[in-house]
Amino acid sequence: MSVKIIGTGSALPQKEITNEDLAQLVETSDEWVRERTGIGSRHISTGETVVSLAVRACEKALENAGKTASEVEMLLVATCTPERGIPCAACQVQSQLGAADAVAFDLNAACAGFLFALHTAWAYIEAGIYENALIAGSEVLSKIIDWTDRGTCVLFGDGAGAVLLERSNMPGILGFVQHSDGTKGEVLKCDSRQLKNPYISEPINFPYVQMDGREVFAFAVRQVPACITETLQKVQLTPGDVDLFVLHQANKRIIEGISKRLSVEMEKFPMNLDRVGNMSSAAIPVLLDELNREGRLREGMTLVLSGFGAGLTYGACALRW
Ligand code: COA
Repeated sequence: MSVKIIGTGSALPQKEITNEDLAQLVETSDEWVRERTGIGSRHISTGETVVSLAVRACEKALENAGKTASEVEMLLVATCTPERGIPCAACQVQSQLGAADAVAFDLNAACAGFLFALHTAWAYIEAGIYENALIAGSEVLSKIIDWTDRGTCVLFGDGAGAVLLERSNMPGILGFVQHSDGTKGEVLKCDSRQLKNPYISEPINFPYVQMDGREVFAFAVRQVPACITETLQKVQLTPGDVDLFVLHQANKRIIEGISKRLSVEMEKFPMNLDRVGNMSSAAIPVLLDELNREGRLREGMTLVLSGFGAGLTYGACALRW
């Protein structure tokens, strides 16, 4: 028995914003952003929500798997930008999809959120509690971006991706690792609503992303190859056995650094960040869906998914397609 991804889907907001468009807002240039990050444009919401994007991505994943919403037993939404504190995004998605029999809840591990949700769903299916799980990573990061900060506003985009996981007799998820380091939380943060009541003075709140880019860069280039190696050792594979590394899409130079540390050629690291930027928890499932629909994922291929982000959180998953 294994747990296998049997369908993928994704959805992006309609509006595309180029680096040149951003140069109208802040002092930057297409050349600077492309050279330092590999990003050329990104999709930004002009009305789409975490819920509406997740619903579209989930519908496509179900269609791709040949399943209906009523068959879904578990529905997880990984997000750090929900529209509502309560109810959770997953319950809203459940309602709009018509997945009446699914248990639904959100999971926030920032850019590693989709991966952690995948591992959570794996555990429920592996334990025999559910037969399947629909997992979405959905973000509208443009809500929490400081559009006057050129150090962050050029990096992020909005979107959603989803996969359907199911118990299977075919090989699927082989093994994974996940890590958290809360002591480094200050290097990438965004305040939420803070304590405010008649008995305290006005709180200091900055509900926009603040980041020490260099620290995050160094963390990713060091920890991602280490956790990929740890995962592969666990399942007795080597980097050379892997057909594709589907990594969190934050920065082309980070991915190049990871490829170098693993001694694996860049051809095995597909990228879409030039068109979509960093979509946090949506990055991995959107790229996976694009690869799936382009016919680049063949049955039996070995993939490694790996994500990292605020928390700090990071992890990797080895699987057979
Ligand atoms: N356009 C032009 N100049 C910019 C700029 C922009 N969009 N953003 C920053 N700069 C400037 C800085 O102000 C600084 O100028 P100064 O030397 O006059 O002070 C200069 O470029 C260098 O800044 P620095 O932060 O050292 O650049 P960098 O090479 O580290 O690149 C990042 C910055 C953000 C692209 C890079 O650190 C990075 O990608 N880090 C990882 C971030 C990430 O992926 N976060 C999400 C993880 S999930």
